[in-house]
Amino acid sequence: MFNSVGPPNGRMSGHRDVVDITDLSRAVLEEVFKVASQIENQEIDLSHSLDGKVMALAFFEPSTRTRLSFESAMCRLGGKAITFLEPVMTSAAKGENFADTVRMLDYYSDVIVIRHSVEGASRFAADVCNSPVINAGEGMMYHPTQTMIDLYEVLKCLGNIDGLRYAVVGDLRHARVASSLIRGLMMFRPDMIYLVSPDRLRVLEETRRSLSAAKIRFEERTSLAEVLGSVDVIYLTRIQRERFGDALEYERVKGSYSFVEDDVKKMKKDSIVLHALPRVDELSPAVDRYPQAKYFEQAKRGVFVRMALLNMVLR
Ligand code: NCD
Repeated sequence: MFNSVGPPNGRMSGHRDVVDITDLSRAVLEEVFKVASQIENQEIDLSHSLDGKVMALAFFEPSTRTRLSFESAMCRLGGKAITFLEPVMTSAAKGENFADTVRMLDYYSDVIVIRHSVEGASRFAADVCNSPVINAGEGMMYHPTQTMIDLYEVLKCLGNIDGLRYAVVGDLRHARVASSLIRGLMMFRPDMIYLVSPDRLRVLEETRRSLSAAKIRFEERTSLAEVLGSVDVIYLTRIQRERFGDALEYERVKGSYSFVEDDVKKMKKDSIVLHALPRVDELSPAVDRYPQAKYFEQAKRGVFVRMALLNMVLR
């Protein structure tokens, strides 16, 4: 499946790990969206498609939505989930345990879903396991299934992913949902990506370079107000407190931006506001009642996307 077009029946060919969004081709992503939409519209019934299959969730970092939506997706396909939860690992000695843990899970399950704070953990697991490995959020860069959900929500709301103007807002330095989405957008043809963040939370140089190499139009801004009225999609991220090595550094930026009712009123009528959730203070609950607020619908649709992906990976 890596950088290749999937076979016409939507099954993945070759290796079936999903570590980074760019491991999938645009064609495979579009197949996931098609199946997710068929599930959502009840055009197909996959309720027994994974009968007898077991998914192992190995979560080394906290999660609510991602874990539960993977579990829900697996249950709705007829499969079952087993869960392994452990506090964040820090020492190299524990790294050895990680290898043993995933090897064991490989014997107990048909697919392994991993969340980890250390970049490279899922790739490592994919190398030692026979079962497919799906990355459910890793370090500050990777969250491929969240990106699929984000792009699917854009597609369902606006009919297209190409040709739109995006503003990715907030902690662009630490939020893996932002880095992953930006890489995902590089597989499409956005008209413009505004990268809006406080100076201290700007995207990494690597992201800037990749955007230029992919010939994607982008601009870095510190104020959302300047672009509010012209974008189709606003993607908000929370300041990732847990990723700051220095508590003082977090204190300097916390609360430095907040999306409120007045902001949503300035947006185009048919534009949308997305957020991977959880939110802290960057997105006011007063925005929830506006038609542009799509973040809860986005979370709901996440189950359809993960169903489509699990079905593709396991059949
Ligand atoms: C995100 C994550 O874990 O990176 N949450 C999620 O998967 N829905 C976003 C975040 O924690 O800010």
